[in-house]
Amino acid sequence: MDAQEWDERYREARSSGSGTDAGLWATQPHAQLQQVAGQLVPGTALDLASGDGRNAIWLARRGWQVTAVDFSAEGLDIARSRAEAEGISIEWQLGDATNWAPDRTFDLVTITYLHLDEAANAAVIRRASQWLSDGGTLLVIGHDKENLTRGTGGPQDETILYSPELLRAATELKVLAAEQLVRNTSTDPEGPEDTGTTAIDTLLHAVNA
Ligand SMILES: C[S@@+](CC[C@H](N)C(=O)[O-])C[C@H]1O[C@@H](n2cnc3c(N)ncnc32)[C@H](O)[C@@H]1O
Repeated sequence: MDAQEWDERYREARSSGSGTDAGLWATQPHAQLQQVAGQLVPGTALDLASGDGRNAIWLARRGWQVTAVDFSAEGLDIARSRAEAEGISIEWQLGDATNWAPDRTFDLVTITYLHLDEAANAAVIRRASQWLSDGGTLLVIGHDKENLTRGTGGPQDETILYSPELLRAATELKVLAAEQLVRNTSTDPEGPEDTGTTAIDTLLHAVNA
């Protein structure tokens, strides 16, 4: 999907929801982000493909200085309005993950549910791996290929889904975990498309050691 198609999805979510900050995805942060980032001392963070802002806003609430990038202006707009309602400051940037680059490094880079084609997924992770400060953490989470047969929600095109092997091969950082995650969608939904009870995600947790 290109940026215009994502804009359209966010616009529809906004118009069918209640208020200008109605969004497309869950409002609570991904449980695994909470677990990993919850153990780190807040510093600088980049949320790439930040969507309507759930992870960026949670990080900022905890004291992280957050830069959030997405190529959907509509998605960013919802996120911005949610953050402003809480008096939270985040640097929102409109950018395409396939060519956007920061002019600084970060203590944490997180990417959740960004699904491009296989080569592009790997290229984004390879590039994002270079944006970490010494000791910085990379956390990538997306739908696993096995979600098609064992899970619920997410894209139904296997060629854009993740596997632990694919994510592990995309980074030269020290990999602490590259594995499947079984996510309970009742307690940790990605959004309204998670209608079953279980989703299979892939997680990459790596550090610039
Ligand atoms: C499934 S949503 C996930 C949003 C958020 N990370 C979350 O977990 O709630 C995918 C997001 O990726 C964004 N996206 C897709 N392709 C992108 C690209 N090439 N560059 C930047 N953002 C992109 C979309 O606009 C959308 O907001």
